[in-house]
Amino acid sequence: MQSAYISDLPGLIGQEVELKGWAYNFRSSGKIFFLQFRDGTGRVQAVYTAADLPEAEWKKLDGLRIESSVIVRGLVKAEPRAPSGYELQGTSFDVIHLASEDYPVGKKEHGPEFLFDNRDLYLRSQTPWAVLRIRDRVFFSIEQFFHEEGFIRFDTPILQPTSCEDTTQLFNVDYYGETAYLSQSGQLYSEAGIMGFGKVYDFGPVFRAEKSKTRHHLSELWMMDAEMAFFDQKMNMDLQERMVKRIVKDVLDQCRPELKILERDTAILERLVAEPFVRLTHAEAKRILKEEGLVTGVKTFDDTYWQDDMSTEEEIALGEKYKLPVFIEDYPAAVKSFYMKRFTDEAGVLRAHCADLIAPEEGREIIGGSQREESYDVLRKEIVDRGYPLVQYEWYLNTRKYGSVPHSGFGIGLERTVRWITSMHHIRETIPFPRLLNRMAP
Ligand code: 4AD
Ligand code: MG
Repeated sequence: MQSAYISDLPGLIGQEVELKGWAYNFRSSGKIFFLQFRDGTGRVQAVYTAADLPEAEWKKLDGLRIESSVIVRGLVKAEPRAPSGYELQGTSFDVIHLASEDYPVGKKEHGPEFLFDNRDLYLRSQTPWAVLRIRDRVFFSIEQFFHEEGFIRFDTPILQPTSCEDTTQLFNVDYYGETAYLSQSGQLYSEAGIMGFGKVYDFGPVFRAEKSKTRHHLSELWMMDAEMAFFDQKMNMDLQERMVKRIVKDVLDQCRPELKILERDTAILERLVAEPFVRLTHAEAKRILKEEGLVTGVKTFDDTYWQDDMSTEEEIALGEKYKLPVFIEDYPAAVKSFYMKRFTDEAGVLRAHCADLIAPEEGREIIGGSQREESYDVLRKEIVDRGYPLVQYEWYLNTRKYGSVPHSGFGIGLERTVRWITSMHHIRETIPFPRLLNRMAP
């Protein structure tokens, strides 16, 4: 008998196969037993009849408990009414491990706190299965895309002596008596990397001590930082647009069953693969939001409004309006990081050559990127002005001291991207074991 996985069944119709996995549900009429079975690759129903099964095996079925690990043998049949399209006509059955009888997940409707208190078990359920498989696909697409574009993977350290982004969001670690920080982004190291390799990316966990409890923020997330020598900000955005289109196309091509399980309406995803993304400056975006009455909670449209960061509501409103990804360019330098290249606009506002990419359908900011300041003197002054410890940044300033080049880069948040593509309400669904302000277990 052929041992197989559920994902192999389309090629095995009419054959008898052996599958190993877990019994996630079952019901019995006393004579017929319907076993709901999963093996990691998919789900299928096996139907056993008492008359056709040795008595000892029927007894094992009779004593079965949810989430026991089992061996199922049976004849593969096409079954158009089944969600999988297949069914097994059971011929033999074995238990590998009889589960304890109190499996807690799935017997009734649970709240999210309960599900995430039991994440180790909850991840066996169908929604996490679909979401985390899409996560895997997104990860793989990004890796493929960068290799096709001539990048090399350049891993950056997680324990770092300096901060890359907002210093209020650092996690401190006692590093043999000195303070180290958990990486917020590998960017500064990637900038050193391009001086040796031209185009590099990293992909790893980064950490943000986010004091806010939102459905868009994790304390531990996975970020891909890309950095490119001799790229200006326009080339940077063009690359990001190609990458996002590629990711979405791959998910649409390869993850149809998962999108169906999640009941994801794919109209906007299909559309953006073919259409150019929207590009607005920060000033234009603020003006449109004001003129079209899309901002809530703002009473006076003074400098604070015009020079402020984009709020969650504003990002969501822009995504809703265009129903496409939106690049917001040229933020006021004051709300952005120290390493961005600046310019002064006609109104005298100091701005950064940067863009955030906002995903539609409440996706929010999925990418932050910019052209980097390449002048040693300007960058050094900015580090000093911000009160950062210059001595810790000396290695980084070497990139501007020995053969500085115009360069650009960006970081994409894996979970923000997966949350948008899967349309999950909360970002915690998009990572196997989420770390949030109020959760670091299990
Ligand atoms: O915009 P951010 O902070 O940019 C950087 O860290 C740059 N150094 C990246 C670079 O240029 N190489 O973060 C990049 C992305 C965001 O757009 C968002 O998708 C994600 O990382 N991100 C978070 N995702 C979930 N939870 C959080 N707390 C996040 N903070 C950032
Ligand atoms: Mg950002």
